[in-house]
Amino acid sequence: MLNRRSLCALMGATALALSVAAPAAAQDKIIIKFSHVVAPDTPKGKGAAKFEELAEKYTNGAVDVEVYPNSQLYKDKEEMEALQLGAVQMLAPSLAKFGPLGVQAFEVFDLPYIFADYDALHRVTKGEVGQMLFSKLEDKGIKGLAYWDNGFKIMSANSPLHTTDDFLGLKMRIQSSKVLEAEMNALGAVPQVMAFSEVYQALQTGVVDGTENPPSNMYTQKMNEVQTHATVSNHGYLGYAVIVNKQFWDGLPAEVRAGLEQAMAESTDYANSIAREENEKALEAMKAAGTTEFYELTPEELQAWKDALAPVAEEMTDRIGADVIEAVKSASGS
Ligand code: LMR
Repeated sequence: MLNRRSLCALMGATALALSVAAPAAAQDKIIIKFSHVVAPDTPKGKGAAKFEELAEKYTNGAVDVEVYPNSQLYKDKEEMEALQLGAVQMLAPSLAKFGPLGVQAFEVFDLPYIFADYDALHRVTKGEVGQMLFSKLEDKGIKGLAYWDNGFKIMSANSPLHTTDDFLGLKMRIQSSKVLEAEMNALGAVPQVMAFSEVYQALQTGVVDGTENPPSNMYTQKMNEVQTHATVSNHGYLGYAVIVNKQFWDGLPAEVRAGLEQAMAESTDYANSIAREENEKALEAMKAAGTTEFYELTPEELQAWKDALAPVAEEMTDRIGADVIEAVKSASGS
């Protein structure tokens, strides 16, 4: 039987053995840091969690995915730089955030009313045009793996937004997209680019008057608590490109990459299967919360919004590329 002293010695030796073994095992793993800016309880947050689970399963634990939500690691602009530098390996930025990287074609997704619905969008993201757009990332050291849905945007402010005149002079937060800047200008608003992590406070303190978001983003950041009015305008789409550092991806052992591709395909199906419902649920929850008055446009008002926003596509043609706009319109059937 072990006396107290030898028991302590054994425990000490075991602890030492474990402390030596543990880092070695951890070092052998391939770490994928997956950074994003929204809450875990969103279509993107849930898609990232699903990818984490499946990636570890399909690579038999060779890969450890670490998901960092809510801009914990980096804000919008910094995360793109971190990916290119290899400080993180995977991101899923909004398609509206590729302009500063020099890839302006993605801003086609921001054009007002370009997609009639999710089906029209999927004819682009699941087809050749989606792949053609991804190819534009390669010389930036980035590889596009998948498109993940979020949803169609609503406009919010602290005053009613029924007619386009209601936007006159309002400071509206936008993502870093020139198309969104043109959209707000066309409405007579004053666009202000701001990182997603700063929007709640900017709305609360009046630094900006309003913003645009799919309901899931608005609800999970509690923006409805600091916006008295919102219009369910569905005037534009917000979704994501899941991207990786290309050098990292190309350098992976082939069997690991195959496991990750499988995990990405399945988590993409999952994320895209929940996005619409997540947004519907978020809208209902905000209506029930009662802090914001939600307004549906009449057919005449909707037409007036469409007319006011129609010049944006023409204005942005040179920036996005006429060929890209044409390819997206023809693939989507819009
Ligand atoms: C935003 O900045 O409003 C969105 O891109 C946030 C996100 O990732 O959905």
